[in-house]
Amino acid sequence: MSDPLPPDLAQAFGRSSDRRGGFGDRVHYFLETRSTNDVAASLAERGAPQGTVVLASSQTAGRGRLGRSWYSPPAAGLYVSVICRSPTAAPYLTLAGGVAVAEGVTSATGLPVEIKWPNDVVVPSNRARLGASSVPLGRKLAGVLAEGASTAGGIQYVILGFGINLRPAAYPIELSDRATSIASELGREVEAGPILVETLVALARHIGHLERGDRTELLARWRTFAPSVVGSSIECETASGRVAGTSAGIADDGALLVRVGNRIQRIISGEITWR
Ligand code: BTN
Repeated sequence: MSDPLPPDLAQAFGRSSDRRGGFGDRVHYFLETRSTNDVAASLAERGAPQGTVVLASSQTAGRGRLGRSWYSPPAAGLYVSVICRSPTAAPYLTLAGGVAVAEGVTSATGLPVEIKWPNDVVVPSNRARLGASSVPLGRKLAGVLAEGASTAGGIQYVILGFGINLRPAAYPIELSDRATSIASELGREVEAGPILVETLVALARHIGHLERGDRTELLARWRTFAPSVVGSSIECETASGRVAGTSAGIADDGALLVRVGNRIQRIISGEITWR
């Protein structure tokens, strides 16, 4: 059973209903749940429509990409999952999720952020801004986990899960020097509602473009948010072994391109280390 939506979030949803394209018209809020992605998947299995949002104040088994867990203490972050049912948009939802969060955070708070392939949202470090390194060694502010379900007939739905660090938390030691929050970066308290709503507005817009067969704006926005995608020294652990080279952009299908000697290699998924 869900819990009542806190008044600040209800107000933010109420004020933005004409801009969200139906995303967030149905919201299921939980003070605590295991993983909002699991709740959203079970709602999708029971027919919940595209744009249904599952939101929690804390998760006891939040998960991230590549089998990691996602630290989800109460009220420190936005833990949100969105049901997407568009087969045309499905291949690009990983990129769309990163861009939507980057646009949502920037437009609601003014904090400049970058994306690291495929969709980690980071705050670039001062070191990178001062030009001491050509690679933006940023601290992670948000991550996106896209999980799809398909049948022989094709893709049924994709759950896009967003974890956005709003406030500082007692991060586990392995995260403490790699994670940051919007409030720590801005040096002031932040409101969850506008960040969530602006992220949903951006997601609805990008999915709308993709449904009309237009991926140009999404790819252009992604490339603008991701300067590290060209010219950075990277290493990547892939299913078929380790790749070391120089990032050479993304292909129009979202694959990371890496120059290794005089060859260009495509990376579809894997753990990237940016040097
Ligand atoms: C990453 O590894 O960067 C992706 C993190 C995604 C975390 C979010 S929090 C809401 C949703 N529910 C989950 O269990 N995971 C995603």
